[in-house]
Amino acid sequence: MKRPHLCEFTVHCAEDLEDIRRTYNASLDSMTKPLRPVESLAGQVDWWLDAYPPKRVWIIRDMEYAFVGFVTLTDRHGFETPLFAIAPEHRGKGYARWFIEFYIMVAYGALAGEQLQSNEIICRLNKEAGWEIIGSKDGVDFLYHPGRSREQINDYFQPRMK
Ligand SMILES: CC(C)(COP(=O)(O)OP(=O)(O)OC[C@H]1O[C@@H](n2cnc3c(N)ncnc32)[C@H](O)[C@@H]1OP(=O)(O)O)[C@@H](O)C(=O)NCCC(=O)NCCS
Repeated sequence: MKRPHLCEFTVHCAEDLEDIRRTYNASLDSMTKPLRPVESLAGQVDWWLDAYPPKRVWIIRDMEYAFVGFVTLTDRHGFETPLFAIAPEHRGKGYARWFIEFYIMVAYGALAGEQLQSNEIICRLNKEAGWEIIGSKDGVDFLYHPGRSREQINDYFQPRMK
């Protein structure tokens, strides 16, 4: 499959937070913990202002500048935990791998994650992306990823090694 043309942006207006709220609420069934919907934009603004532990948040858009989904990385003191969701109208377009590659690229190092064993798509894509299962309980796998690969670090040095 061709690599999709997607681009990342930071959150800079209320519409961005509304898009995140809508997509988050549409994805609660896929999360590994029971989470409640955020009922209003004000609630989503509170999440943005009060997020602790600190999070880095990206909005992902397509070439028409349409909101496709969001990614968060939460600082866990020495490693990060990712979360992403694709807006319902953009699912099934082959974007999921791009999201996983993106958060691995921007992570500062090792990652910890969780997956629902019942979410076959995510389990397969996570395995392909190098996530390792280190334990499981009640239908949830606990995962480790080392972060960017040696090859990716090599790409960083390439211009100076020519
Ligand atoms: C899970 C999720 C990320 C998948 O995204 P998507 O856009 O539907 O998936 P893609 O179109 O990129 O497809 C990825 C793979 O899944 C397969 N797939 C997608 N929808 C499928 C379906 N309904 N049935 C079977 N396979 C499916 C695709 O064929 C593709 O596999 P392939 O490229 O090896 O052939 C998306 O549904 C989502 O955001 N869900 C809610 C939040 C979530 O689960 N986040 C991840 C955990 S934090």
